[in-house]
Amino acid sequence: MKYLITIVAFMLMLLTIQACGNGEQSERSDASDTANGNELTDFELEHGFGPVTERLDIDEEIDMDKVAKGRNIYEMKCEMCHNMGSRMVGPPLGAITETRSPEFIMNFILNPSENVRKHPIGQALLREYMTEMPYQNVKEDEARAIVEYLRHYAETEL
Ligand code: HEC
Repeated sequence: MKYLITIVAFMLMLLTIQACGNGEQSERSDASDTANGNELTDFELEHGFGPVTERLDIDEEIDMDKVAKGRNIYEMKCEMCHNMGSRMVGPPLGAITETRSPEFIMNFILNPSENVRKHPIGQALLREYMTEMPYQNVKEDEARAIVEYLRHYAETEL
């Protein structure tokens, strides 16, 4: 009888160890899924999370009306945290159109919190800058205008 109790106790112990082990393992794989982008679609990986879910048809030629509108919003809502050429609260944005797609930039402006949580680029930026960019109540057409301003800046000032 004593022998039986020992065996049962031993089996229970094994089960507990196994259950804990499994828990840890699935947590680990969740974390790495997000980190290596397994849960992201190809579009999200390249263009970020947000309301822009398709490639935009953007004219090669700069639209100067959009540039003027974008500059206004940028000066009001972005300049307190971003410089064009050097790091401030956030990263420099003068050459951002050369490294990120217009869709990525728009999604980041329109939905910063999800991008710093779920997107590998956003996660890395948050680790580096340690401040979370707030949603600035910018509408989609305004974000598009900011992209135009940043494209114009990259073409004329770099
Ligand atoms: C309160 C400060 C703050 C304001 C205001 C702000 N940002 Fe940011 N921004 C950041 C920080 C910090 C990051 C880095 C990501 C993070 O830590 O949240 C960032 C990241 C970004 C990125 C991603 C850069 C990359 O390398 O992909 C873009 C694009 C961007 N901001 C554009 C804007 C625009 C456009 C505005 C104005 C509408 C704006 N930000 C307003 C702080 C700010």
